[in-house]
Amino acid sequence: MDITSSTDIQSELTEQELRLGLDPDLMPHHVAIIMDGNGRWASARGLPRIAGHREGLSAIREVLNFFDELNIPLLTIYAFSHENWNRPRAEISLLMTLLDQFLKKERQTFQDRKMRFLPIGRLHALPDAVQALVHEIANETAHFTDRVLTVALSYGGRSEILDAVNDIVDDSRSGKVSSPITEEQFEQYLTTAELPDPDLLIRTSGETRISNFLLWQIAYTELYFTKVLWPDFRRREVLLALLDYQKRERRFGRVTQTASP
Ligand code: FPP
Repeated sequence: MDITSSTDIQSELTEQELRLGLDPDLMPHHVAIIMDGNGRWASARGLPRIAGHREGLSAIREVLNFFDELNIPLLTIYAFSHENWNRPRAEISLLMTLLDQFLKKERQTFQDRKMRFLPIGRLHALPDAVQALVHEIANETAHFTDRVLTVALSYGGRSEILDAVNDIVDDSRSGKVSSPITEEQFEQYLTTAELPDPDLLIRTSGETRISNFLLWQIAYTELYFTKVLWPDFRRREVLLALLDYQKRERRFGRVTQTASP
């Protein structure tokens, strides 16, 4: 698979010039990101992995601010997967501390921006204090609908689908639903029930996998892979991803209108 690189003519352009190339009518509404490469970013500098995660947080803030400027209302980030629980205990603990710091620092920003914080995943697996904070901020921002930051925590796409299936089985026993279940009904059981599917999924660091992220929701999502490591994914990289996205023709399984049979 081709991994997008910015070594072509675009690398000569300034951020301003790249921005001029954006078509405001073709902006994605919902972008999902697999933020990968924090560890490699740190190793390349002889730093501990946590330094990469810390810089990764700074990249999240920059992307969030830029999305605000660009009027992209929905951002979904993969902050901690099920599989991440298999990391060394010390790294997990530092990641949880970073998450806690991030939420405390951004709490007011969510209010100022009228942005909903929507945590998804098996949140009960998080440490108690983090879990409580996550629920508090989710509750106090739940009434904001125009902008949403969805954060996948202890998340896995397969378990999300499985949880939905089990809930449907329970509901069918009590007569709340009956077969056949439609796609629309099924989606109501997913943690992303209130969100439209992502238009664009970005994965950084050169890996070209989905890694159990939003398996149901990305059926027709455009995929963008870049070799840039997550801590280096800043405004310019956002623009390159958006420009690439705007070149795509989204057919959702249909043919183009001009195509001959
Ligand atoms: C992947 O880098 C990154 C993650 C584990 C998730 C993203 C985490 C952050 C951006 C830091 C903030 C953390 C939270 C929980 C808000 P990696 O460690 O897999 O990098 P590598 O593949 O180079 O080792």
